[in-house]
Amino acid sequence: MTAVDSKSAERSLWENILQRIEIFIWVLNQACIGFVTIYMFWICIYKGMGTMELHAFLVTIGFSLLMAEGIMCHYSINPLTNGFKRKTKTTIHWVLLTLGGGCGVAGCLVMIVIVKLNMDQLHNRLGFAAFILCLISMLSGLSALFSSYLRRILSPLLNKGFHNLVGFGTFLTALLAQYYGYEFFHSSIIWSFINVLQVVTLVSLVLTSIGPLKALYQKISSYSD
Ligand code: HEM
Ligand code: HEM
Repeated sequence: MTAVDSKSAERSLWENILQRIEIFIWVLNQACIGFVTIYMFWICIYKGMGTMELHAFLVTIGFSLLMAEGIMCHYSINPLTNGFKRKTKTTIHWVLLTLGGGCGVAGCLVMIVIVKLNMDQLHNRLGFAAFILCLISMLSGLSALFSSYLRRILSPLLNKGFHNLVGFGTFLTALLAQYYGYEFFHSSIIWSFINVLQVVTLVSLVLTSIGPLKALYQKISSYSD
């Protein structure tokens, strides 16, 4: 074996190890998403699905489940979508995010209409920001989908880059709102378990962000080339 051969064998060994770590991270993230979704589904039904439970249920399905899964569609190691062409992944992405964004926006509206815009708490401020960002993400997603038709007025790289950035911002603020949202359950869930839900939500936020941050980095570096 030549020195060049052994170097490339070493590189592919490292690439293999890295890929397995990424797959392990993906599985861990699915467990976190599943845990939060199933638990919130259960507690909201158990508590009788009042206004707060309906709000929490809709935003959990919309942001923590569908938005996270939709964002990870384009992630190259995702075993559920990595066999598909880019176009198919994008179709799955926009279908999941139209549903997820719709549930999330509906969940926010339930509270915005009832509490009449009351910005006294961090949860409300983050939630309202996520609500606005979600609407912008959905519009910018539509423009990213038709970026080739809009190339005369807006470069596709900028168009998709903006959607990627604002989409990531939406997910970040929504999961932070979710983090503070659990505290409203303090009368029915013990604090130590609220902390468990918060940590699991943060883990899922960090792990889901790997894909969009990688994509954003690639877009920024090809823009600066
Ligand atoms: C564990 C999940 C959640 C629970 C239990 C929860 C609970 C609540 C409660 C009780 C309020 C009313 C607060 C008040 O009296 O002022 C509220 C408001 C609100 N929440 Fe949540 N929330 C959760 C997750 C989220 C998420 C993930 C979002 C958005 C991404 C969100 C967006 C909002 C908005 C927009 C408001 C109304 C803000 C306003 O009009 O002032 N919530 N939430
Ligand atoms: C709230 C809703 C949405 C969020 C948070 C969101 C978020 C994202 C993110 C983070 C990416 C980059 C993923 C990656 O490359 O790893 C992306 C890509 C994309 N999204 Fe969305 N999205 C949303 C809704 C939509 C909608 C409604 C559409 C279409 C109607 C859409 C179309 C696209 C397209 C075409 C791409 C690929 C861009 C490219 O080729 O780089 N998105 N989205």
